[in-house]
Amino acid sequence: MDAKKVFITGITGYIGGSVAMKLKETGYHVTGLVRKPEDIDRLNALGLEGVLGNIHDEQLLRRCISGSDTVIHTAESADDSFAAGLLVDLLAGTGKTLVFTSGSAILGGKEKGEANDFRFTEDIPLQPQLEMASRVLVNQFIQRAATRGVRSIVIVPTMVYGKGTGLKKDSIQLPALIRFSKEKGHGVYFGKGANRWSNLHIEDLVDLYLLAMEKAKPGSIYFAENGSATIRELAVKISDVFQLGEAQSVSVEEGTKQFGAIGAHFGFASSSYCSADKARKELGWKPEFANIMDFTN
Ligand SMILES: NC(=O)c1ccc[n+]([C@@H]2O[C@H](COP(=O)([O-])OP(=O)(O)OC[C@H]3O[C@@H](n4cnc5c(N)ncnc54)[C@H](OP(=O)(O)O)[C@@H]3O)[C@@H](O)[C@H]2O)c1
Repeated sequence: MDAKKVFITGITGYIGGSVAMKLKETGYHVTGLVRKPEDIDRLNALGLEGVLGNIHDEQLLRRCISGSDTVIHTAESADDSFAAGLLVDLLAGTGKTLVFTSGSAILGGKEKGEANDFRFTEDIPLQPQLEMASRVLVNQFIQRAATRGVRSIVIVPTMVYGKGTGLKKDSIQLPALIRFSKEKGHGVYFGKGANRWSNLHIEDLVDLYLLAMEKAKPGSIYFAENGSATIRELAVKISDVFQLGEAQSVSVEEGTKQFGAIGAHFGFASSSYCSADKARKELGWKPEFANIMDFTN
C-alpha cells in the first residue's frame, strides 16, 4: 500500500481543507469525504480528491479507510459519537493512524463573561459541564482506541484564526463575533467579557496535525494554542478595526438568541484557557503566529 495515502473527513471545511492542502504540498495523496456533489469539482481544482457520501455510511467508510493508512477526522462535529465509534470500529486492529479533532470548549464553565484564568494542561482531569461531557467521553474513547490496534491521536484546537487554505477560508468564532459586532454597531462582549480563550493560527494548527501524524504516540491528546485573549480584548480590537462604536457588553441572553445557548455560553461567554507546551516539547511543534489581534480584519 502507498504509505502516503490520507483520508480526511471535513475536507471541504476550514481545518480539514487547510490540513489537506498542506498534506498535498508535502507529497501525500489526499482524499476526503464530501457531502455535496459540486464540491468534488471544486476540490479537484485544488488538486484534491473527493468521495461523495455520508459520515455514517459504513460500507463507504470501510472502502475509504482500507485504501488509506491515515484517517484525519475534522468533520463537524466533535460531538458525533456515532461517527467516532464507526471510525474506531473500522480502524480497529489495523494499526493505522486516526487523528481526531475535538475542541477546547470542553474546558469551559458557565463563566458568563466573568474572569477565570485557570490554565489547563492535558494531564489535569476534566470535570466538564454537562453540555460538554459527551465530547470529553468521545475524546477518551478515541484515546482508548490505542488498546484496540488504532494509532489514535486527539487534537484539541482552541479559537482558530487566520485564512484557511482549502475551500473554506473562514473560521467559526472570530468571524461570528465580527459579524455580530457589525450588526450591533459596536464590538461585542458578553457580561464583563473578562473570560479568556486560548487561540492559534490555522497554519500553526496544520503543522501540528502533520507533526502529530508523524510522531505522536498512540492514545495521545494535545491541546493546540499559541496565545490567548479575553473576549473584551477582541471586542475592543473589532471596534477599532471596523471603526464601530466603543465595545460594549451584551447579555448572555441576547447572545443565546444570536448563537443558541451552547454557542453563547461555551463559544463566547466561557473561559477556555490552556497550554500547548506538551505539543511543543513532545512533537517539536514551533507555532509562528502569536497575535490574534493581527487577524481581526
Ligand atoms: N474553527 C475553529 O476555531 C475550531 C476550534 C476548535 C474545534 N473545532 C472543531 O473542528 C472541527 C472542524 O471545524 P472547522 O472550523 O473546520 O468547521 P467547518 O469549516 O464548518 O467544517 C466542517 C466540515 O465538516 C463537514 N461536515 C459537517 N457535517 C457533516 C456530516 N454530517 N457528514 C460529513 N461531513 C460533515 C462539512 O462539510 P460541508 O462543507 O458539506 O458542510 C465541512 O467539511 C469541528 O468539529 C469544530 O467543532 C474548530
